[in-house]
Formats: sequence, C-alpha cells, structure tokens
Amino acid sequence: MADKLPTRYEELKAQVNFHNYRYHVLDAPIISDLEYDRLLNELKKIETDHPNWITSDSPTQRAGARPADRFEKIRHPAAILSLANAFGADDARAWLERVKKLDDRVEKANFVVEPKIDGLSVVLHYRDGMFVQGATRGDGEVGEDITSNLRTIRAIPLKIPVNSEQSSVISVPKNLVVRGEAFIPIKEFDELNKKLEEAGEKTYLNPRNTAAGSLRQLDPQLTASRPLTLLVYQIVHSEGGKTPTSQWEILEYLKALGFPVADVAKRFNDLESAIAYTETWNEGRDKLAYEADGMVIKIDDLNLAADLGFVGKDPRGAIAFKFPAREVTTTLNDIGVAVGRTGVLTPYAMLEPVEIGGVVVERATLHNFDFIAEKDIRVGDRVLVKRAGEVIPYVIGPVVDARSGKEKTYKPPTKCPACGQAVEHFEGEVAWYCVNAACPAQLLRNIEHFVSRGAMDIVGLGYKIVEQLIEEGLVKDVADLFTLTKEQLLELEGFADKKAENLLKSLEQAKAQSLNRLIAALGIHGVGEVTAGDLARAFGDLSALSKASTEELQLIEGLGPNIAESIVDWFSQSANQKVLKKLKAAGVDPKMQKAEIRMQNGALSGFTFVVTGTLPTLSRDGVKEFIESYGGKVIDSVSKKTSYLVLGENPGSKFEKAKSLGVKVIDEAELRKLAA
Ligand code: IVH
Repeated sequence: MADKLPTRYEELKAQVNFHNYRYHVLDAPIISDLEYDRLLNELKKIETDHPNWITSDSPTQRAGARPADRFEKIRHPAAILSLANAFGADDARAWLERVKKLDDRVEKANFVVEPKIDGLSVVLHYRDGMFVQGATRGDGEVGEDITSNLRTIRAIPLKIPVNSEQSSVISVPKNLVVRGEAFIPIKEFDELNKKLEEAGEKTYLNPRNTAAGSLRQLDPQLTASRPLTLLVYQIVHSEGGKTPTSQWEILEYLKALGFPVADVAKRFNDLESAIAYTETWNEGRDKLAYEADGMVIKIDDLNLAADLGFVGKDPRGAIAFKFPAREVTTTLNDIGVAVGRTGVLTPYAMLEPVEIGGVVVERATLHNFDFIAEKDIRVGDRVLVKRAGEVIPYVIGPVVDARSGKEKTYKPPTKCPACGQAVEHFEGEVAWYCVNAACPAQLLRNIEHFVSRGAMDIVGLGYKIVEQLIEEGLVKDVADLFTLTKEQLLELEGFADKKAENLLKSLEQAKAQSLNRLIAALGIHGVGEVTAGDLARAFGDLSALSKASTEELQLIEGLGPNIAESIVDWFSQSANQKVLKKLKAAGVDPKMQKAEIRMQNGALSGFTFVVTGTLPTLSRDGVKEFIESYGGKVIDSVSKKTSYLVLGENPGSKFEKAKSLGVKVIDEAELRKLAA
C-alpha cells in the first residue's frame, strides 16, 4: 500500500498541473471547479501525511516561499537582447532594405509577427523539465532572482511538458531557458483597481507598473495576490536536446510544452503582408486582452537572424513596429482652472509639452479638484499622461518615485478665475461652480440659454450673433440685450435694416414673456422649466423670489434643500442683483397671479410655523404631523418670514423673538381653526 501512494501522488500532481494549464494557459477548463478541488484536496491530504514526498513541481508549492531580504543576482546564459524600433511602415521597409544588403537569403525570408506586450521581460530556467529558476532582465547580462515570485504565476508551468502523455513524443532539453513577458491583463487590472477603490485604498497607475512592482515584492504572497500572467516567445538557451530553428516552430514547440504563447502570432512570407497585419492590430489594439505597445516583426529563419548579428543590443533579425504611444510621463508645470459653460470649474494640467501618439500635448484634464487631492498630484510632479483614441488627454497620476521634494501641494481656488466671484459647491456634487451670471467665461452660454426656445424664446438671435455682440462689447450680460439700438446692430457683420428691425422687434416682444420663462432663462443651477413654473406661481414676481429664504422655497413640493440653497445663492450674488435691476429698468419685470400654490394642497399650504412650549393636546411630533398634513411647514427657528408661532405652556426664547419680529402668535385652538 505504502509504495503505491507515491504513484498516486505523482498522478495527482500531474493532473492538477494539467488542469491548471487548461484553465490558466488555454483558458479552456475541462473539469468543474468541484472536481478540481477534489483532486487538489486529495493531493493536499497526501502531502500532509507524507511531507517528505513534497516536490517543487507540486501545485501546492506555488506561493510557499518565505519573504526574502533581497534578490540575488543571476547571470543570464546568453544576452537578453532588446529591439530596434520602427515607427511606421516606411521604417520597417527601410530596415529590411538594410539587412537585404547584408545577406541574400533575406530576399526570400518569411516573417513572424507577434504582439509586443508592455510588461516585464522574464527569463525562466528548466532543468530536466522542472522550473528551477526565474529572473528579471536586469541589464541584459545579469538579472535578479525572482524565482519565488514567478512560481506564483499559474500560467508558468512548474514541469514540462505539462501534458505528461506527450513526454514520449516531444523532446525536452536537459537545460532549457525561455524568455517571455509577464503582465497583468487589462480586465484584471481594472477589476483590481475597482476593488481598491471600493475599499477606499489607493489605486494603481497602469498594468505595466503594477506588474513590475508585483514581481519585485520580497514577499511572494503579495505577488500571488496580483493577477499576473505571461506569454513566452523565445528560447534563450538550450542544452541536451533538439530545439527548432525557426521562430514559428519555436512558438509551436513552446506551446506544445505547455507554455502560454500569444495566439495572435502569425507567419507571413513577405514583409508587406506582415506590415498589413501589424497595422490591423494598431487599429484593433483595444481588442487585445493586454497592453501592447506595438508588434514585433521577426525574420523566421533563426540561423539567418543570428548571422545578421547586432547593432549594440538590438538584433538585426527583428524589429519592434511601435504603435503610437498612448501614455507618457512629463512634468506638471502648473495647474490651471477653466470655467465651463455651465459655470463648473475644471482644473487642467499645464504640461511640459510632450508628444503622445503623434500629437504634441501641453494640456490635459485633471477631472476635478477631488481627483487632484485623492491622487496627491503636486505642481512640479512628473505625471503620467494618457491620450487614447478620441478621448482628451488626461493625467493618470503622479510618478511618486520621481519627486525631488520641491513639488508643491495644490489648493483649489476659492474665487472664479474669470470673474473673481466666490465659487460655490452644491451638496452631493464634486464640482465647484461660479454662479455669477455675468461671469465673462459663461456669458456666451448664459445668453444662449436665456434666448433659447424653452426660456425667453427670442427669435433671430442665434449663436453667431450672440458671439458677435459679446465680441463687440455690446452685451456684457443678458439685460444688455434689451437696450440694443438699431445703430449698434447695423454695425455688425451681416446686418441690414430689415434684420436689425426684426431682431429689435423680437426683443421687444420678449419683454412680455411670462415670469416662469424669465425664471427658467436666468440659468439658476438646478432650476429647470418645471421648478421655474412653481417658483413663479409661489412668488408672483422676481423681487419676491429674490427675497425668499431656503425654508420658504422648500415649501414648494419637490423642491429640496440643494436647489433651495442654489436659488438663494444665485440671488445673493451682487452681480446677479445688478442684472435683475437692469432687466427691470429695461421693462422686463413680468408678474404673475400668486397664491395659487398656497391654496393648492391644504389650508396651511405656504405657511411656516414655529412651535414653542407644551401644547394642551398635541405632542411635539403630533403638532408637526398636524401642520404638515394640512400642507404647512414646521421649522426650528423664528425669522421675519415665519408665518405663525404656535405657543404652548412654558415657552422658550422663541416667544420673545417672535414678538420682537412681529410674527403672529397663536395657540393650539387657533391653529386648528386655521386648518379647518
Ligand atoms: S523579442 C531577440 N518579442 O520588448 C529578442 N520582445 O526591446 C528580443 N517584448 O524588453 C526581444 N513582447 O521584453 C520580443 N514578442 C516579443 C516581445 C518582446 C514584448 C519586449 C521585451 C523587450 C522589449 C524589446
């Protein structure tokens, strides 16, 4: 019995490793999680009973190593080379022309095109089929021993061939050293960041940096927790066994051994087809599961490639066909603030000019002020900037390691950079706003909104004309529209008698627009046509509305504290008051029959009550409920605008205050009468 167990143990290790491979390399499992767990548990049980049987190729041994103090150096068996770049098809053609001159065989060469994954180059050593050592690229001659970390990557076979049934058909050299690229797929990276964000933790910058950081952890447990994977593409060294002599066959051979190999790799028999294929991936790079910064075009015949030699560290037999970069680092010289058409203040990065994907970028968005604080972006920082597809360039975050200590923490402005008015913040929103209607940065959009069909509906005042009026200095706020003269209009481009007269006529007609339209036209944050209608009915004219308190405003059904505050804020701005005065002087002061709303939902609708002292029958909550059920509103403190003070026994200071302000004082009986 006892001597049978090691056979079962070997069998289980091979099976679990194989199913790992089906899952992590081929992405095509053939057993359920339950079956997999059963195998793994049986394996674990044997290992608990016979700890001395455990071998390093056991799937249980991936993240077993203890944290290291430092990484040992490893000399690579052959130089780990890099690649010369080609920026575009002509560069690639020029490369081929150059090498053709060196060797006639190039004329008939085949080419292999592979993705150039933006990850970390790693070197994996196998002895007698067992994974024994793994290293970083380092300087190309000497790298660092990150074996324990690499073992945690499930796509790396611990023993080759992974499919043990192949042992007889495929030869595995005694010593085999392969090279590949370790990386974090985009989807896994986004999920990782999402989890961190939900946990309120700092997010990672990009997949590449995260992969590099993860592989350089001294504690392999940390590496194991990151979604790293890899693709291999090269045999660096092989001894005691035959390996193929063409790149295409190498990829097939590595695949057969159980290594993950890029499935988009393809072979071509002329460079033009290879270029055309490369270009399809430039267009379609978002379809790749990982970040690729280009495609590698390799001469297929490895003997020919080797004979072509090197230029420095770059082999002549291959070229990196680079996609336009999407991410670069540059210096954040300063942070500017733009005032948008809605008054929203948006910070933007003023960058040391840098080329991204063929375009020089000097500005990039910083989203909002919270983003700057969360990412701790400082003026003077080296920042990572991304420009992909149609999106506006944006700052991803600071490169903290590049700090000199001279960087300055940023403070958001308290005043609008365009007009100098204090900025406002609305609850529940991250943005800061300038709410000054006369702010020059918003003037165009304000006027456009003011004259639009849902607002004052002024016909014949299109965008172009508004732009001209502002440019000529004829209009500095919406009220100026109503004092325009025919002479002024005639000076504008494209204006003749008739057109000027028509415009003046529509302006004259607009003076008679209803109060709801005028309120909607003012562009108060959160006040659309419906709320404007409610406000018009409740207050009857602009002068009454401008004096309303937030409590009074909230008497309107559906009007919450945020909008109430936004309305009060708007009217408290002196610049806005000035506009209102000018509108009135120009004859724009519509009135409306008010009180409709006050009678609308109950006898106490539109009235505010403050309660003090103990009432004969109603409790504190009871009186509130009573008043509200008749449409009234109960507030805490007495002001001039309070409709009634409801007085009970042992009143507080509210009674004195109500008297001094002349607020009507009633008792419970009178309250009931009012409601009846
Ligand atoms: S071939 C002679 N193939 O790109 C072999 N490199 O400078 C030279 N890379 O640091 C490398 N994917 O880490 C090659 N399919 C691929 C690659 C690839 C990514 C990286 C490699 C190297 C850099 C080239």
